[in-house]
Amino acid sequence: MRHLVDVSPEGGSPYPVYVGGAPDGMLAALWRDRWRQAVLIGDETTASLFAAPLVRALEARDVEVHVLRFPAGERSKTRETKARLEDAMLEAHVERDACIVGVGGGVALDLAGFVAATYQRGIDHVFVATTLLAQVDAAIGGKTGVDTPRGKNLIGAFHQPKAVLCDYGALASLDVSERRNGLAEMVKHAAVWDAALFRELEGWSGEEALPSEALVGRSIAAKAEVVSRDTRDRGIRQVLNFGHTVGHALEAATDHSLPHGQAVAVGMTIEARVAARAGWLADDDARRLAALLARLGLPTAPPVAFSDASSFLASDKKTARGAVRCALPSTLGGVTPSGGSYTREVSYQALAAAWSEP
Ligand code: GLY
Repeated sequence: MRHLVDVSPEGGSPYPVYVGGAPDGMLAALWRDRWRQAVLIGDETTASLFAAPLVRALEARDVEVHVLRFPAGERSKTRETKARLEDAMLEAHVERDACIVGVGGGVALDLAGFVAATYQRGIDHVFVATTLLAQVDAAIGGKTGVDTPRGKNLIGAFHQPKAVLCDYGALASLDVSERRNGLAEMVKHAAVWDAALFRELEGWSGEEALPSEALVGRSIAAKAEVVSRDTRDRGIRQVLNFGHTVGHALEAATDHSLPHGQAVAVGMTIEARVAARAGWLADDDARRLAALLARLGLPTAPPVAFSDASSFLASDKKTARGAVRCALPSTLGGVTPSGGSYTREVSYQALAAAWSEP
């Protein structure tokens, strides 16, 4: 694995992000002597696919290893699953000098990180990210948490990992639709932060929805830079919410049958259209964004009417005083703050008008 970048959280220690194959060797190499126990947390699918070499590498270092699994899927990202994992750790006498290893995609990493944030008032954790979405997004930034019936990620904590290992080799095992979920976040990072990356994505064939390790690395570096500047999400980090105000409402309105990346792709298309109609983004840029998403096999049309999604907009965390706030690019590659804020107020009327425009 190669060292790609360090994330430098405000008020915390920098941590490295590695990309490449064979995360077992890297995990053993970075393991700290004081971590006498390891708790690998993954879903049933990723744990069976990826845990064995990691366990062997740690046992070869005389680490006591426990592997905890939970059923795959967003429905497992709950307080109940977290409590089950914690109870299993207490039963196994996991102590404060243990390190949790979150293995898998976004659900596994968000849960593992949240368990680490609160177990005995906080223990160390590292991530082995095995999906494209997890590598370019969920593994980087320290937000951990679980969903509740009232919304996604409503309960959680900031808790930064000690290291992130992005297993590029694991992406070969993902189906095309899962890869596309990660591509949506890569397009988002390019649209709000990295104009050159946006152009590179436009020039890439999109073959089998598997971007090169270099493109994945560029996207990870963009996220790392943003969260290093604003770790606690009080300012510029909000640019990463582009597409998410509408995207989260679409996920809820479809009872999560629309996967996160696809919902964000539709969300970005609609939010960019709102920005273009308001004169905050050039029409041509909104069209280029939709064209890139479509070429990468991502949806751009909402699967439900605005009236079916609007009630879920209200419960979005980014609303204030009944108004929806959206993080909107002002060019393809940047967000210009308006009135000191990286989000803008968007009326339901403006969203409804942009909803199903061809
Ligand atoms: N854990 C993902 C983030 O902090 O954005």
